[in-house]
Amino acid sequence: MKIRKAVIPAAGLGTRVLPASKAMPKEMLPIVDKPAIQFIVEEAVKSGIEDILIITSRGKTTVEDHFDRAPELEARLLANGKEDICRQIVDISKLANIQYIRQKETKGLGHAVYCAKTFVGDEPFAVLYGDDVILGETPACKELCDVYEKYSLGVAGIQPVEPSQIQKYCSLAVEQLGASNIYKVTDMVEKPKPEQVLSNFSILGRVVLPPQIFPILENTSPGANGEIQLTDAMRTLAQQQGMMGVQYSGTRFDMGNKLGILQAAVTVALTHPEVREPFKAYLKQVVSQLD
Ligand code: UTP
Repeated sequence: MKIRKAVIPAAGLGTRVLPASKAMPKEMLPIVDKPAIQFIVEEAVKSGIEDILIITSRGKTTVEDHFDRAPELEARLLANGKEDICRQIVDISKLANIQYIRQKETKGLGHAVYCAKTFVGDEPFAVLYGDDVILGETPACKELCDVYEKYSLGVAGIQPVEPSQIQKYCSLAVEQLGASNIYKVTDMVEKPKPEQVLSNFSILGRVVLPPQIFPILENTSPGANGEIQLTDAMRTLAQQQGMMGVQYSGTRFDMGNKLGILQAAVTVALTHPEVREPFKAYLKQVVSQLD
């Protein structure tokens, strides 16, 4: 079945990037000249998604404003002969059919996804974590949707993480299918203790889920950090009907993390037509002075 709907949870508190995220949602932090969440919406659209639900919360109205029209700004740009940037601004509001719902309490990613129950209805859907930007030739969401369409099972976007870091993530039990980038996921544990680590593979930023996740989420109690964890619900899903994993080909940048924000900025700047050359010259100068 073709995946037409996507959910972008963007209601988290962003405590790891305070104070930047105090009044500005981390999902709106710019990567050179575009907010992180626009990269994510563009990835969804390139993956064939038609309808998007963004889960927001108090203080995140800038997300809605960004994907809306801005008539005063547009008029001023046109009056000043800036047609090009004006077109770009208008195009943002036409990217996709975007709806919003508020998660009234930040009870965890699983709870945020549960808020999408009515929007999703009875079909499979993609989840693109609002603070994970993935850059690459092929959209990561598309790679997952293709695997869903082939196996009709939930799919997690997976990557190996540094063994010393796995306790901050979820850890997966996986079986690789031949020499491919596709895996069977048989078990998972969120924020594992050392003796619970299943492998260094984790779920990073993207999943495609069947609607059967909703009754499971309804019965999922708070887990790690006292939050309703999507991982706990996906573990039940994997046990009930199996799940797949795909090691996507792009590079993931964690916009909920200071280093991730810097890495994303450098990477995008080095391909940006306007700033690439002067930025490269600046970077070379900085590097030559490093000890
Ligand atoms: P994170 O756990 O990375 O976000 O969730 P967080 O809670 O903001 O992180 P801290 O405070 O820095 O540790 C991944 C994605 O899920 C969303 C976040 O906005 C982020 O995009 N999320 C998380 C929700 O929408 N609701 C929640 O209750 C928690």
